[in-house]
This record gives sequence, structure tokens and C-alpha cells, in this order.
Amino acid sequence: MNIPIFELERVQSLYENTVDYNLTESGFHPYTLNELLEKDQIDTLTNTVLGYGQTNGSIPLRKQISIMYNGINEENILVTNGSSEANFVACHTLLEKGDEVIMMIPNYMQIWGIAEEMGCTLKAFHLKEETGWKPDLAELKSLVTAKTKMIAICNPNNPTGYTLTIEEMQEIVEIAKSVDAWIYSDEVYRGAELNGKTIESFIGMYDKVMVNGGLSKAYALPGLRLGWLIGPEELVSDTWAYRDYTSITAGIMSHYIGEIALRPKKRLEILTRNRNMLNENLIAVKEWLDQYGDLFEYTPPQSGGMLFIKYNLDINSTELAEWLRTEKSVFIVAGDCYGMDYHFRIGIGERKEYILAGLDRIKEALKERFNL
Ligand SMILES: Cc1ncc(COP(=O)(O)O)c(C=O)c1O
Repeated sequence: MNIPIFELERVQSLYENTVDYNLTESGFHPYTLNELLEKDQIDTLTNTVLGYGQTNGSIPLRKQISIMYNGINEENILVTNGSSEANFVACHTLLEKGDEVIMMIPNYMQIWGIAEEMGCTLKAFHLKEETGWKPDLAELKSLVTAKTKMIAICNPNNPTGYTLTIEEMQEIVEIAKSVDAWIYSDEVYRGAELNGKTIESFIGMYDKVMVNGGLSKAYALPGLRLGWLIGPEELVSDTWAYRDYTSITAGIMSHYIGEIALRPKKRLEILTRNRNMLNENLIAVKEWLDQYGDLFEYTPPQSGGMLFIKYNLDINSTELAEWLRTEKSVFIVAGDCYGMDYHFRIGIGERKEYILAGLDRIKEALKERFNL
């Protein structure tokens, strides 16, 4: 096997269903169909003919997606199985062996693994912890070369919850233009901003831009496995050709439900529910962390369902996560999954009581082992 193990996903797949408290979830407490849909919509669903449907995404769904971006139409959109498939087909469409990819770090490492498997050269530019996770754009500028094919961004960022300012986005565009590189922006957390203001997409800022989106995170519907890819029409058509080899299409039921979830009124209802949950949980989790004084250091996220925390204890992050999982049946993401030891990630988009109960288990553990 030539592809590196995607540690973050692998470890979650192995253990997230085997613990009492799974604090690794990076999205929001998911909806049930009954909570999401009206009775007549459920009836329509139960009478749906289970065919393939339109394989690049139903026209009503792509129309609904298009209104969330400036200057695009249905032809600029490929509907995918989750935004993870969007990442996969985008890399295969845009990159070739020997290309240079510069990626924002820390990051969801899927693109890193795919590009490595494809034989690309990878370089990292960093979000700096000491400046509240602001991007080091001088570093990005110093790294680009004539061989740079793609600058890979995650905005809002997993795991820090940092969102780029417009000025930072413009500067990234200028840097990409200077070497004629693509910007690929993973925007799956767009819509989960704590201040309620949906951030701008990179779409429309430069002609060599592709972005993803999806319903797994900000929309609390990961079980639909619905994502999308947006870019210039000819390139989206090429990504569709790759997608014929991966999964052919997302499910017809997901097309139908996704279109309803993205109708403006419903969309606002979903995003508001999730943002309220996030704001409320953040206060409670901060209170829990702050009781330990300097033990935990963090910059509160601007977006997304998680908190990335530095801890001042002499224990490796994988060991810490393993110990909490096996001793207390509570599961956190080790900073090692991001190449950042002495950090861990916890989800803050679940129900508050559940998160606090999980944190109680961590409290017991810290007392028993470290007398804290
Ligand atoms: C930044 C980011 N992109 C993509 C994904 C893939 O999500 P999905 O395929 O469920 O849309 C995740 C999942 O955690 C993520 O955090």
C-alpha cells in the first residue's frame, strides 16, 4: 500500500463507537430525519424511486448550492459523497506527480496524504499559535516557486477554528497569482462561525480557485454523506470524469434531503441552532479548562465545532488520548494526528450535558494520575 495511513480518520473509525464519551466529533449533534423534515417531505422520501438520479447532483440541489456563492451556476458544481470525496477528486484533477503543493498547517491531513501518494512534493506554511493562529504569509511567500501547483487552505480551519480575514485571503490570492498556482480551499466549516456571520468563500476572488463544501459539519448532517466541489466549468467537468471512477454519484435520497436543508429559511434555522449550541458550549468548556489555571492554553475558535488545546503535562498526546480512552472510556484527538504533540482536540458541537460528562471523566483521570 502506497498511501500513508490517515491517522486522524483511522483512529476515530477504530474507537469512536466503543467509548462512553466520544469527544472527537468535530461537527454538531446530528439531526434525525423527523427533526429535519415535514411530514409531507418524509412521505415524498418514502415514495422515492431508488434509482441513481442525476449523478453530478440533482438540478434543484445544485441550484440551491449555487446561491450560496458569488458568480457561479449549476455547471460549476459537482455534488460528491461528502467533502472528503471532493478533496480526493480535486487532487486527482489538479495535481500530477512532481507538482509542488503548499499546505496550511495544522490542517485536516487528507490532502497531504493524497498528494504524497500521488508523488507530489509537499511543503507546509503555518498558522502560528503565538499570534492566535494567524497565518504566516511571509512564510507562504517564501515557499512558493514556479513548480507550485496548489496552495491548500482549510478555512475555517480544522483544528484551530481560525478564520482568515479578507485581507489575508487577498494576500493568499496575490501569492498564488505570482506563481500561477491553484488555490484549493476546504470550506466545509463555512456556516459554523460563532459570531453568526458566514465568511466569504475564495470563489470569485481569482480564476484558479476550487473549493469544497458539504453538509457534514456546519449543517449537522454527516450521515447524508453530501458534499460538493466548486470551480471553473471545464475543471468541474474533469472532476466529474474522475468521480465516475470513485462512486458514480451521491445517493438520490441525500440529493433530495440536502436540497431541503439548503433552502434559505431552513438553512438559517439549522445554522442558528448549531451556532447557538457552539456559543453556549464554548462558555461551559472554557470554564472547565480555566479551573486548571495555566495547565491548558488555547485561543477560542472563531468557527467550527472544536477546540484545539495545548496542555502543560509531561505526557505525549497519543499516550494521553490512549490512557483516557482505555481508563475512562472518554476519547479525544491527540495533537500527534496534526504533528503537534502536547495538544489535543475536543469537539464542542455535541449536547452540552454529554460534553460536560466526558470532561468529568477527564477530571477524575487527572486527579488520579497527576493529583490535579
Ligand atoms: C476540514 C475537513 N474537510 C473534510 C472533511 C470530510 O468530511 P465529510 O466527508 O464528512 O464531508 C472533514 C471531516 O472531518 C474535515 O474536517
